[in-house]
Amino acid sequence: MLIRNRRLRTTEAIRSLVRETIVTPNDFIVPMFVVEGQNVREEITSMPNYYRYSLDLLKKEVKELWDLGLRSVLLFVKVPDNLKDNKGTEALNKDGLMQRAVKAVKDAAPDMLVMTDVALDPYSSYGHDGIVENGQIVNDSTKEVLAKMSLSHVKAGADFVAPSDMMDGRIKAIRELLEQEGHVNSGIMSYSAKYASAFYGPFRDALDSAPGFGDKKTYQMDPANREEAVKETLQDIEEGADIVMVKPGLCYLDIVRDIRNKVNVPVAVYQVSGEYSMLKAAAEKGWLNHDAVMLEQLTAIKRAGAHMIASYFAKDAVKLL
Ligand code: PBG
Repeated sequence: MLIRNRRLRTTEAIRSLVRETIVTPNDFIVPMFVVEGQNVREEITSMPNYYRYSLDLLKKEVKELWDLGLRSVLLFVKVPDNLKDNKGTEALNKDGLMQRAVKAVKDAAPDMLVMTDVALDPYSSYGHDGIVENGQIVNDSTKEVLAKMSLSHVKAGADFVAPSDMMDGRIKAIRELLEQEGHVNSGIMSYSAKYASAFYGPFRDALDSAPGFGDKKTYQMDPANREEAVKETLQDIEEGADIVMVKPGLCYLDIVRDIRNKVNVPVAVYQVSGEYSMLKAAAEKGWLNHDAVMLEQLTAIKRAGAHMIASYFAKDAVKLL
């Protein structure tokens, strides 16, 4: 035997010395769900141990995340039904829930990086990411609203906007408006390769944002496509994205590696709600070891090429790291 691979696996000391991938608290973006009200902390039925917070308790939670070493959050809001319409009018309200949530986070932890979700679905009476006309999701008028929405978030203090809608040309529209208005240091994390995935179910429960008719296949990508993800991503970089994203995570790690090999900007992965709930359910039944599987999944996402991970496991994970 000239080569014995097991030599480098004999003790934890040597294993940790040769380990290629390490997950750290710096890798995480924490998704947070925000609701109106006071003293609200509601568990999301299909996401065990994950909550929606009113602004007062959001602040408390943000402080806790900060103390655990987490440094970025990604905000989503649950919009009351009476404020929903077809054009996402409420999304532009400078005193809207998102705009107040951004300020609340900065208030609680001034150095926390704040990213905001930019898409119409939580604000849409149809539950779609774009404006609906004659049963179609219209692209160009939607991207103008997304640009205004981004500007409004940045004015409220957001560091990054994160468009999750998959309209064509929206990164350019957002970037141009931010430049024009002097917000030259505001970042864009683009959901560049976002698939029409069945793993988003629990998230739509969390925000009550499921599409009222049809599905999202005319804008989100077909899970069967690989080359197209690279095309989408390169285009978003040309339009001015600072960070690109692949979503969901585990089923799409081939895409993550393709993109990592082809671009020179940071790559984010969104480990989505269904991925979270699947593991929680299996662990509750005693079928999987929660912590071990969680860390294995996060390591795999990083190994595939992610520079950062938006994950509902962030808080669970950092406690173990
Ligand atoms: C909507 C949006 C979705 C998610 C993030 N932004 C759902 C969708 O596209 O229907 C999903 C996140 C998750 O499942 O964790 N713009």
